Amino acid sequence: MNANLDKNELSAYDFETHWNNAYRKTPVNSLGWYEENPNPSLELIDSCNLEKASVIFNPGAGATTLIEQLLDKGYSNIIVNDIAVASLTELSKSLTNHKNSNVQFIVDDLTNPSELLKLKNIDLWHDRAVLHFFTEQQQQEAYFKLLKTILKPNGYVILAEFNLEGDKKCCGLNVINYNEIMLQERLGVDFKLLKTFNYTYTQPSGNTREYIYTLFQRIE
Ligand SMILES: C[S@@+](CC[C@H](N)C(=O)[O-])C[C@H]1O[C@@H](n2cnc3c(N)ncnc32)[C@H](O)[C@@H]1O
Repeated sequence: MNANLDKNELSAYDFETHWNNAYRKTPVNSLGWYEENPNPSLELIDSCNLEKASVIFNPGAGATTLIEQLLDKGYSNIIVNDIAVASLTELSKSLTNHKNSNVQFIVDDLTNPSELLKLKNIDLWHDRAVLHFFTEQQQQEAYFKLLKTILKPNGYVILAEFNLEGDKKCCGLNVINYNEIMLQERLGVDFKLLKTFNYTYTQPSGNTREYIYTLFQRIE
């Protein structure tokens, strides 16, 4: 990548390269968003009381440990997505204890989806640290349009992003900082906020990052 390029003016192709490089250059458990125990997510998912066969969709999943932990808990219908094939390769490698699981892997761009548009009847959309990278209105509109297209009536949405006190950058890219009011505005009146809390995440380096976690339910 051209070192002089402003990373916030990258094209879609360059974003793909940027994220593939992130996963190819750094061991997964040293990445600035690696979680050994994704406890805040699991706590919110538990509170949804989903059937084990419910469809759980993790956009921008990267190589998250959440998927292994959901499989350990017996969830059997998990779909993961990322723009970076390298991240999903790492994720797949981490699921060796669940060789027979039928996790579906979809490489696609949430801000310009194609394969993802074929999904439907999602029970839970779980996003940690993905939406906040979409700094352009067009990217946010595409993201929420996809969410509203594939989420079931009464489906749940977990959005965990850098909060208003949080960092302004992640992985070298600018982010949008959120509070629950902003997320409610983006989702619209058909979604009810069920839970929200701030959470201080400690990176593998020992530095901290401030997140807001939100759980919404579609109420139409
Ligand atoms: C900070 S990481 C978070 C990964 C994962 N959610 C977690 O909590 O470990 C952001 C992830 O979003 C993915 N991503 C960024 N832009 C994307 C896009 N337009 N479409 C799909 N995934 C994207 C990146 O490749 C990366 O895996």
